[in-house]
Amino acid sequence: MIGVFDSGFGGLTILKSFLEKMPQYDYVFLGDNARAPYGNRSYETVYAYTLQAVKRLFEIGCPLVILACNTASAKALRTIQQNDLPKISPQNRVLGIIRPTAEVINNYTKTKKIGILGTLGTVNSGSYILEIQKLHPEIKVYQEACPMLAPIVENGEINTPGAEYFVEKYINKLLNQDPEIDAVVLGCTHYPLLIDTFKKVLSGKNISIVSQNEIVAESLKDYLFRHKEMDKKLEKNSGVKFFTTDDAAMFDKTAEFFLGREVKSTTVDIF
Ligand code: DGL
Repeated sequence: MIGVFDSGFGGLTILKSFLEKMPQYDYVFLGDNARAPYGNRSYETVYAYTLQAVKRLFEIGCPLVILACNTASAKALRTIQQNDLPKISPQNRVLGIIRPTAEVINNYTKTKKIGILGTLGTVNSGSYILEIQKLHPEIKVYQEACPMLAPIVENGEINTPGAEYFVEKYINKLLNQDPEIDAVVLGCTHYPLLIDTFKKVLSGKNISIVSQNEIVAESLKDYLFRHKEMDKKLEKNSGVKFFTTDDAAMFDKTAEFFLGREVKSTTVDIF
């Protein structure tokens, strides 16, 4: 199975695209809802929580784990890949979602000025700036941390005036840095759950909204095409299993609303 991990509900936006583009694989989704959001937590904490989740997904039977979380990709991925994986499961793989986004970002901008919206952790890590400048040094990257947005999603306040107030506030702060920004990356997997609000706030402006889900799905498809040895290990055609570290009924309600299908999750302890 392919493991898909996020601090909470955000990773469902990535899973949804996986299911649309690669329905043949079996997936395990794990949301650490009991400890979400991760956005304001320290490097050490995000790393420790993410490693626990990865180990549990390995135990459940996932040789490949996607960190469908920018904060975890920014703060934990490299250490897990370089230090932990060789010791705990050298044959398994853990992939993140920042690099695939950085690879294609040049397709979305004409002015070569882009904005990243993400958690405080993602923004402070500077990971997007680093990855984009390695691949596309001509692109100028601006960032704005949006610490209120993941909690709004985790608390089910998606289509509310409060959500709109904060989306507008963060967009204005970003565009004030440079009015020529013509692409805004939703650099937190929770933000596509607020896509209607982003569209409303950005309507009339000539700015592309870059959502990661399709980008990451295309990138995984390509990875599995290039890594036949991994593809062979993956089970196919039995569907998706959902795990949450918090209340299962609560998880199912939001997950069903978002995925448009029945969800029966199981509570799992990863601590
Ligand atoms: N969805 C996550 C991300 O992509 C984390 C949000 C959070 O837990 O603060 O960054």
